[in-house]
Amino acid sequence: MIVTTRQLFEVAYGRFAVGAYNINNMEQARGLFEGHQRARAPFIVQLSKGARAYAGVRMLEAILRAAEEEYPEAVFAVHLDHGDEATCYDAIDSGFYSSVMIDASHDPFEENVATTRRVVERAHAVGISVEAELGMLGGVEEDIQVDEKHAKLTDPEEAEAFVRESGCDSLAVAIGTSHGAYKFSGGQGIHFGRVEEIHRRIPGFPLVMHGSSSVPREEVERINAAGGTLDPSAKGVDEEQFARAVPLGVTKVNIDTDGRLVWTRVHREHFRDHPENFDFRTPGKIFMEEYARFIQHKSDKLQSTGKVDEVRRAVTTQAAAAAGSGA
Ligand code: G3H
Ligand code: 13P
Ligand code: ZN
Repeated sequence: MIVTTRQLFEVAYGRFAVGAYNINNMEQARGLFEGHQRARAPFIVQLSKGARAYAGVRMLEAILRAAEEEYPEAVFAVHLDHGDEATCYDAIDSGFYSSVMIDASHDPFEENVATTRRVVERAHAVGISVEAELGMLGGVEEDIQVDEKHAKLTDPEEAEAFVRESGCDSLAVAIGTSHGAYKFSGGQGIHFGRVEEIHRRIPGFPLVMHGSSSVPREEVERINAAGGTLDPSAKGVDEEQFARAVPLGVTKVNIDTDGRLVWTRVHREHFRDHPENFDFRTPGKIFMEEYARFIQHKSDKLQSTGKVDEVRRAVTTQAAAAAGSGA
């Protein structure tokens, strides 16, 4: 069942976070749906511009349609990750996405508001939710490289004005995380003081945490032991901190890098240990199982495990009420 992110957040806000995972191929899709079926957790499938260019828009849609049929109990949103205005309109008009992210965070405040407002009008007219971004994360976002000294934490006062003026349904905030495998050096982590201030300004409004991969040390070590050359200082978000962020309004948690690490570790180890093999389906099968287990583990940390029936009931009741009132 495809739902909007707004519908997911209505149930999740303040109680658990919904995991949002990027997919690019069939193997990731199968692991994602299988893991969430086992965890009985609702989730968000994210498609980036890069994924759309890599696999093709129609191929990704076909994969997800097939997954929807094979996993009839899945409750999920189909979300455009880091969209520009044109890609948002393409996703909205496709009739397949239930949620889009307009990322105009690199533009000045007023321009960001105006662009987001235009996307909100088009999306809301057809019942699609909109995530916007304010502030600047470090790391690479799509094709834009933001170095750490230009990263800018979200200003709480601006966040309040932005939400009011733009009409967006959720807000991606810069709170110290960044995309990729190298988020922190030393003892840094999520800036909880900043999350608290934002939450105080816009209580009840769903916040989105990008750059939420945890980059497990063991994963990096295994990749390097199998021939990889990742910087061993790679460091991510402590996943025990998700539980602390949830009561402060963090309702969507974006994870991509960790899944790439699972893929890289499985394939590197497999081909190191079986150099004679050239059938990619053998490591592919291992990856799908490992990714499903990874998803189960993340769902526990996000506290979304076991919440799928509750979301389905809420959405079904809402739809019945809307039909009854002729809406
Ligand atoms: O935030 C970006 C996501 O990790 C997607 O990455 O643009 O390489 O597909 P991508
Ligand atoms: P990571 O690089 O931490 O996985 O973040 C992914 C993300 O924010 C996608 O929008
Ligand atoms: Zn992101």
